[in-house]
Amino acid sequence: MEEKVLYSAAQPSGNLTIGNYIGAIRNWVNLQHEFTCYYAIADMHAITVRQDPAQLRHRTLELAALYIACGIDPAQCTLYVQSNVSAHAELAWVLNTLTYVGEMERMTQFKDKSLKHPENVNMGLMDYPVLMAADILLYQTDLVPVGIDQRQHLEITRDIAARFNNRYGETFRLPEGYIVKEGAKINSLQDPLHKMSKSDENPNASVYLSDDRDTVMRKFKRAVTDSDNCVVASEEKPGVTNLLNIYSAFKNCTVAEAEKQFEGKGYGDFKTAVGETVADVLAPIQAEQKRLLADKQYLADILKRGEENAFRTARKTLSKVYRKVGFYRGE
Ligand code: TYM
Repeated sequence: MEEKVLYSAAQPSGNLTIGNYIGAIRNWVNLQHEFTCYYAIADMHAITVRQDPAQLRHRTLELAALYIACGIDPAQCTLYVQSNVSAHAELAWVLNTLTYVGEMERMTQFKDKSLKHPENVNMGLMDYPVLMAADILLYQTDLVPVGIDQRQHLEITRDIAARFNNRYGETFRLPEGYIVKEGAKINSLQDPLHKMSKSDENPNASVYLSDDRDTVMRKFKRAVTDSDNCVVASEEKPGVTNLLNIYSAFKNCTVAEAEKQFEGKGYGDFKTAVGETVADVLAPIQAEQKRLLADKQYLADILKRGEENAFRTARKTLSKVYRKVGFYRGE
């Protein structure tokens, strides 16, 4: 039987956080042996918010190194840069014609980002989900491992694919999300009712994968909790619940097991343990990323190979789409 296809991507729009790691990249690593996997660096999505060009280029390479340092095996998967495969932009254009302005205006992320960057509500920001649909649909993807914040984008991807199939005949496979319950949403350490984000202005709100041990320890020490000094997860205790989620994700245990471990202990001990656990996982990833970044040619070769591989598959889908919509392709 043909292996199922898995697709996912992250934007090189800032330092990745432990939320990106737990919600997405770690799952990519675990799934890479079971599926035909495509992992992209979504630089075209990143420019929907202003980016410094030199920094964007550098972050793209850093992210490639980070994927590999986290355990993505470039021999097992196709690892590539989105803008290197022009089919993404091309398919997005066609899909635009099947997407309604009203539904894009209603997307949560569009509304959030428009509020955050009122001076730059550009068409790309609004079109973001369509480009994401193009990413996924080009590879006839079965499964998309993402954090919960991307669920709405997956739903619209399925809607657009179904619309195309209805109008032009069976062309796209309808993808399913793969959203693990534990870690699907890691929240801010300073505002635990909201998602931890790589673009948060408060540096204490997010733990970056690049943070050294002292920084990690300091951020967890300052994490917002409550005053009852009891390490249990509950809706009334979002700060402690978030820390328990982080701890159990990094320790590979359940929240219940973590609660048991900290029975009778105060927040001081608990926060120290969370910090140490996270720092222990990050240290080898950081060392490996640094080692990889020292060999730019090696990374360039991997990305080139990825681009060629991705292009081969993407071109097949795009040709089919162009034929179906009636674009002249020669006789
Ligand atoms: P991005 O770069 O914002 O995030 C990358 C992945 O990390 C997940 N994530 C989180 N998971 C748990 N807790 C958090 N605090 C947290 N923050 C982020 C995200 O859900 C995501 O899975 N639009 C995508 C990139 C993309 C994409 C795609 C993904 C472009 N094309 C095609 C899948 C398929 C994004 O902005 O990811």
